[in-house]
Amino acid sequence: MIDVKAILAKYSKELDRSIDLYLPAEKPDNLMDATVQYPRAGGKRMRPAMVLAAAGAVGGNKDKAIPLAVAIEYIHNFTLIHDDYMDGDEKRRGMTTIHVKYGGPTAILAGDALFARAFEVIAQLDTPDNVMRNVLKVVTRAVWDLARGQQMDVNNENGEEVSMDEYIETIRLKTSVLFAAGAAGGALIGGANEKIVNAVHEYAMLLGVAFQMFDDVLGLVGDPVKLGKSVGNDVRKGKSTVMVTHALKNIKDKGTMKEFRSVLGKINATEDEIQKARKIMEDAGSVEFAIKMATDYTKRAIAKLDILEKSEDKEFMIALAEFAMARDV
Ligand code: IPE
Ligand code: IPE
Ligand code: MG
Ligand code: MG
Repeated sequence: MIDVKAILAKYSKELDRSIDLYLPAEKPDNLMDATVQYPRAGGKRMRPAMVLAAAGAVGGNKDKAIPLAVAIEYIHNFTLIHDDYMDGDEKRRGMTTIHVKYGGPTAILAGDALFARAFEVIAQLDTPDNVMRNVLKVVTRAVWDLARGQQMDVNNENGEEVSMDEYIETIRLKTSVLFAAGAAGGALIGGANEKIVNAVHEYAMLLGVAFQMFDDVLGLVGDPVKLGKSVGNDVRKGKSTVMVTHALKNIKDKGTMKEFRSVLGKINATEDEIQKARKIMEDAGSVEFAIKMATDYTKRAIAKLDILEKSEDKEFMIALAEFAMARDV
């Protein structure tokens, strides 16, 4: 059995220095403090670990992929800062979010600063020009798509019924694409051919869907202390998730449906009301349904790796896909 958390912690420790290295202190202090908070706080570091593992799994030198691993984590952190601002959330990685602590304008700028620095780090990659071009293509495309996905997520905040297809397209764009850019970029740096790069990209796209579906589950039934972020706010904001889509289709009793709809999108819903909505979704089988769907995606993700030869890095990538939807953090 692979201990994914232990391997992630090891990657995390190895990456700490590099993640810090490219964020030297400059003025003004408040912007710098805001910029380094999430990178230094850590998080699970699944994306940079995936970059390195992909480079290794295709037979390449993992160390050569370190700048991309750092860059992908910066981009992830940039999107978290902006996401927390957009979602109005107050906790991330167990800390007060950037926009709450430093204000909205600084949150926008800290995100922008990390986004820019990511590309400065990518420029440090020691790879042939054609690889550099392909890495830039996949990473920039991912951030473009991520913006589209985040807008779709915001557009679907009104508690209206969103189709399953639209929900999946949203999370492919807001979440999967960055995992996929990291994995494909790692494979490119590792010297993989197009067929393998594409397979690794698809693996991460599918993994990302499972990851986000399960993240939504944790966002409803998880432990906010362990997660380091708030729970229940998706319901308050009327965000579409697999569970909400399933519940809106499957709640049979009219009174229950009325009660559910009255909490969905109620921004100042009490803890009690959130508990009720949660119970309704659980009783409708919506949580179970989301977990089953995530399991399907994980299986499909892992199957994409059949193309790779057996290796420790491949095993880790398989375990990472399982971890994406069987975690408590
Ligand atoms: C959070 O990502 C944002 C989502 C896409 C749901 P992670 O759960 O990977 O966050 P960290 O990096 O571990 O904090
Ligand atoms: C995060 O999505 C996706 C991105 C940051 C692009 P969510 O808004 O669903 O995730 P959390 O719950 O804030 O981590
Ligand atoms: Mg959010
Ligand atoms: Mg969001």
